[in-house]
Amino acid sequence: TSEDLDRREKTLVALIREAGALAQRAFAIEGGFEMKGPQDFLTVTDAAVETLVRERLKRLFPEDGFLGEESGGTPGEAVWVVDPIDGTANFARRIPHYCVSIAFVGGNEMLLGAIYDPVHDELYFARAGRGAFRNGMEIRVAPTAAAGSACVELGWSTRISNGVYLDVLSKILGTGANVRRAATGALGLAYVADGRSDAYAELHMHPWDCLAGLLLVREAGGVVCDFLGRDGLESGGAVLAAAPGVADLMIAASGIERA
Ligand code: IPD
Repeated sequence: TSEDLDRREKTLVALIREAGALAQRAFAIEGGFEMKGPQDFLTVTDAAVETLVRERLKRLFPEDGFLGEESGGTPGEAVWVVDPIDGTANFARRIPHYCVSIAFVGGNEMLLGAIYDPVHDELYFARAGRGAFRNGMEIRVAPTAAAGSACVELGWSTRISNGVYLDVLSKILGTGANVRRAATGALGLAYVADGRSDAYAELHMHPWDCLAGLLLVREAGGVVCDFLGRDGLESGGAVLAAAPGVADLMIAASGIERA
């Protein structure tokens, strides 16, 4: 019900600030990292933040499911999807550009999404049908209509082969858009919602990296792919989010369809 979602919304915005503050305190101290695999970083802070979030949600909403980047879980009818630190490679190298990302999914629909950047104290929040906000101010995607003034973020990982990414990169560059990669997909999506960039594309993302951001972009008036409709909660998948004025160009260049 709407009251149940109100309760979850209140918890989410307070909890993600607490989680971000924990990450930011740890960032200030030299922490070190391990490798989970090639180009896949893990810091002790990832685990600490995820434990804080998981334990709190379990206590307050024992009936909800949990799916986290570090501790896994099983997606159910209602599930919290958590990335304790998105941009771990930045965090591990002491580059101050990372965030915490939490989404709440019910009946395979994105219902709540929050992304918190503790470095700049920017809290992004969206609720299905109710708009997208940064620190309480409503945000909209950019009015950009031409590739020649567009800025697009392309993300990648070792999960997809280089040749495939290089093809998409060359097609996006071919449109005339500027391409960047700031290495946190969640914040990259929040920046599209906020009109700071015009599109975000990546050929495979996990649900914890992108669900909160996709809801933000949709609620801010952007075009997004159908991540959950294509089984994204179970297996992850391709992600595209774009300002409407450049959406068709980005769909053509990336080969990722709109919802
Ligand atoms: C990664 C980041 C990166 C994206 C990768 C993700 P992590 O998440 O979002 O920008 O390109 O696909 O795996 O490991 O920092 O949580």
